[in-house]
Amino acid sequence: MFSLLRSSNAFAIDLGTNNTLVYQPSRGIILDEPTSISFDTKRSSFFDSGASSRRMWGKNPQHIEVMHPLSKGAIANLTVAKAYIKEVIARIAQSRFFKPTILVSVPSDLNSMERGAVVEACKDGGAREVMLIKDPFSAALGSMQEIELPKGVLVLDIGAGVSDISLLSCNGIVMSKSLRVAGNDLDEAIIEYFKANKRILISHNDAEHLKKELGNLINREEVTMQINVKNLVSRLPERFVASSHDVHQAIMPLVDKMVSLTHRMLSELPPAFAQDIYDQGILLTGGSSMLLGLDCYLSAKLEIAVNVVDNPLQNIILGAGRAMEDVRYSSLLGA
Ligand SMILES: Nc1ncnc2c1ncn2[C@@H]1O[C@H](COP(=O)(O)OP(=O)(O)OP(=O)(O)O)[C@@H](O)[C@H]1O
Ligand SMILES: [Mg+2]
Repeated sequence: MFSLLRSSNAFAIDLGTNNTLVYQPSRGIILDEPTSISFDTKRSSFFDSGASSRRMWGKNPQHIEVMHPLSKGAIANLTVAKAYIKEVIARIAQSRFFKPTILVSVPSDLNSMERGAVVEACKDGGAREVMLIKDPFSAALGSMQEIELPKGVLVLDIGAGVSDISLLSCNGIVMSKSLRVAGNDLDEAIIEYFKANKRILISHNDAEHLKKELGNLINREEVTMQINVKNLVSRLPERFVASSHDVHQAIMPLVDKMVSLTHRMLSELPPAFAQDIYDQGILLTGGSSMLLGLDCYLSAKLEIAVNVVDNPLQNIILGAGRAMEDVRYSSLLGA
C-alpha cells in the first residue's frame, strides 16, 4: 500500500470543513479551494464546486442549492460528499480513466463510522485506494517536527469546525482532546451577538470578514468597519458601523472554551512530557490561529509559549504530503 502512495497517481487531500487542499508529490499543492458544492435542483444535476460555488452561498437563486459536504470536521451528508469528492478528483484528473490512490487527512476524533464515511465517499467518488492520516500528525510534519522521536510535541489545531489538541511522541498520539467549536462558530457567535444586541442581521460572509478585520485579542483599541445589514425592526437594509468592541464581546465566550480545552490538556499531561512541552511550548495551527492575538492570549492565560506555524492554512496538507513521501512515517497511514 505504501508503495502505491509513491506512484504518480497518488495524492494527499486535506478535507477540511471550509477548505480542501490537494498535494501531489513532486508538484506540491495543486488545489486549494473552499469545500463547497452546488446543485441545480430544477435539472437535478451538479452545478458548481469550490470557490465559485462558495461565492454563491447566501446569494444563490431558488433553483441552485449551495451545500457544505462537511460539518464540524465530519461528513454531514454522504451523497453530497461523494459528489464533491468526484468533482475534486475530476479537477486533478489526468485522464478519463483516472483512479488515484489518495491519502486523506482527517480530524483525530472521528469515530469509526465517520472515518468509514470518508473512505466510502472517496471510493465512490473515483479513488482506487484510500488511506487516512490524523490531522495532528500532518500538522506536526507540516512544520517539520520530528514526531518519530521520544519527545512530546503538542499541537493545537483550530480550524473552521474543530479545535483539536494532541500530544505526539514516537509516531503516535499519547493523548488528545477536541471540541467541535472553531472558526465557523466564531462567525455564528458574531451573527447572534448583532441579532440580540443591535437588532440587525448580518451575512455569514460579513461575520467572517468582521472576525478577520476587527477580531483582536490583545489590542483593545476601538476600530470600526461599515457593513450592509438588515434591520430586524424595520425589516429594511441599512448601513451599520460595527466595532471591534462588539466583535470582542461576541467571540470571547468561545475563545475561552478553546483556552479551557488547552488548560484541561495541560493539566492532564503525563509528567514525563512536562519538560518537553515547557521547553518547546504549543504548536498552534489551523486557519483560526490567525485570529489576531490568539497566540498571545493563550500564552498569557496558560503561562506557556505558543508558536503559530508558518503557514496555518497549508501546513496540514504539506505534512500529509511529507508523510506520503517519507518512509519513516508509513506507520501513520491507515484505513
Ligand atoms: N485572519 C484570520 N483571522 C481569524 N480567522 C481566520 C483568519 N483566516 C482564516 N480564518 C478562519 O480559519 C478557518 C478556516 O481554517 P482551516 O482551513 O484550517 O479550516 P478547515 O481545515 O477547513 O476546518 P476543520 O479543520 O475544522 O475541519 C475559518 O473559520 C476562517 O474564518
Ligand atoms: Mg483542518
